[in-house]
Amino acid sequence: MFIDVDGIKIRIHESEKKLPLLYVHGSGGTGNVWQHQLATVGGYAIDLPGHGESEDDETIEFVEDYARYVVKVAESIGEVFIAGHSLGGAIAQMAYLIKPEIVKGLILVSTGARLRVLNEILDGLIDNFEETAKMIVDNLFSHSFKDEEVKKMVFEEITGCGSRITHRDFKACDRFDLLEDYRSAKIKIEVPVMCIVGSDDIMTPPKYSEFFQKMVNAEIKVMEKAGHMVMLERPDEVSRTILEFVEKSGE
Ligand code: COA
Repeated sequence: MFIDVDGIKIRIHESEKKLPLLYVHGSGGTGNVWQHQLATVGGYAIDLPGHGESEDDETIEFVEDYARYVVKVAESIGEVFIAGHSLGGAIAQMAYLIKPEIVKGLILVSTGARLRVLNEILDGLIDNFEETAKMIVDNLFSHSFKDEEVKKMVFEEITGCGSRITHRDFKACDRFDLLEDYRSAKIKIEVPVMCIVGSDDIMTPPKYSEFFQKMVNAEIKVMEKAGHMVMLERPDEVSRTILEFVEKSGE
């Protein structure tokens, strides 16, 4: 289905099971990365503006700008759990900060409270897009993950989003930094938080999830020998973890 958010058409992937759970993809992705979770757990996955089948909003620059769309979509579903991957995890945190009353819980997958990005990636996404997309994909998976079809799908998602949008996403990550706000307790998260991260994730290492464990008493599930694309590398384990968390947190 499509939802109109202030004149911009936003594509929502729906499962048959109408669980109040909204999935948010990461940089250069689409809601397709959550296919397995939609089929096995249920819920809704957004294509962020400018991604997949959603129209773009060219004024978007920051994580907050994306988060406003997620808040509007969440409001149309009701009170929801938000599961966000990488940039999507930053957007999930920000959506909670914008409108805590619509969030039942956060599932933070391969993400952090700060997401600095290598300059090599930021520059490469403009100057040398295809090569940089290849380099990114090489770093998204654990060395033990050998499914070339899945890697090809992720590469095609990035190239499908294109240079401008993928660069905008990584730039938004690079500008996102709530570390001090958590440390100083300026930010308090008063809903349950679950972190899922791969032990071999070099983009957002387990240390970033452990930070949430310390700061907001988050639960953490480290998936051994998985990388940054943990929901594609360990689809069943990630679905099980999400389902258990959602059930335990009162759904
Ligand atoms: N949670 C907890 N700690 C964090 C954190 C987070 N989200 N982000 C940074 N930190 C910590 C670092 O671990 C480091 O701690 P240390 O001094 O004890 O080693 C400190 O804060 C400084 O952060 P760091 O990210 O290392 O800053 P930097 O300016 O030195 O390095 C990069 C920047 C880009 C080199 C680095 O962030 C990196 O390698 N990122 C991964 C690659 C990437 O581009 N990922 C894309 C993410 S979407």
